[in-house]
Amino acid sequence: MEDKLSVLKTEGICKITKSKMSIEEFESFCKSFLKIVKLLPDDPNVIRVSKDQVFGVSDMPWHFEGPWFNDDIITVTYNHKNCEKFPTEFINTNKVVEKYCKDIDYFKNIKVVLKNWGRIKSDEYKEVNVLQERDGKHYLFIHPKYTKNILNDTKDLYRDLISKFEERDEDIENMKYTPELNQHDILIYDNSKIIHTRPKNLSDAPFDRELWRVTGIL
Ligand SMILES: [Fe+2]
Repeated sequence: MEDKLSVLKTEGICKITKSKMSIEEFESFCKSFLKIVKLLPDDPNVIRVSKDQVFGVSDMPWHFEGPWFNDDIITVTYNHKNCEKFPTEFINTNKVVEKYCKDIDYFKNIKVVLKNWGRIKSDEYKEVNVLQERDGKHYLFIHPKYTKNILNDTKDLYRDLISKFEERDEDIENMKYTPELNQHDILIYDNSKIIHTRPKNLSDAPFDRELWRVTGIL
C-alpha cells in the first residue's frame, strides 16, 4: 500500500487489484488509509455512481472533485460493475502545465472565481489560484464548469486553455490516460494533480455501469 500511495504522489493515480467487496468492506478499506470527507453534508460515506443512483449517465466534462475544499481531496473508486467497458479517463495537469504554461510567473498570478454548478451550491464565490505547486511540480486548476470569472489573465492564455477542455479539443484528448481495468479494481487519485471525465458516449451504453466512490484526505 505504501508503494501505491507513493505512486499516487507522483502520477496522481494508482490502481489496486481487489476481489469482490461489499460496500461495508470497501468503506473499511478506504478508512484504513483515508479520513473520509463528504463533499456534501448529506452524502453517504460511499456514493454509488450509476444510472439508477447518483449522477446517472449524463455527460460530465473534465473536472476534479471538491474545488471548494482547501485540502487535497483524494478519491477512491471501486469497479462494482462494467466500469472496465467505460472507464473514467484522466489527465495529470502537470503535463498540461509543461505543454501549455511556459510562462509560470504569468500563470501564478491568475485566479478563478468559482461559480455554483451541478450539485454544488456554494454560497460564497471563492477565489482560487490556478497554478498550484506540489513537490516541486506545478498543477493547474481546470474545472470549466466551476469557472465564473478569471482574474489577471490579460492575454487570455488560461481562458483559451480551459476552453479546449470544455470543447474536448483533440490536443487535450490526446493527453489523456485511460486505465485498463478489471472488475473489482480500485483506483485512487489525488484531485490536486489529476482531472477526470467520463467517456463521451456513456449514455449510449446498453448496460448499467456502477462505481462506488469515497472521498477524503490522507
Ligand atoms: Fe467526478
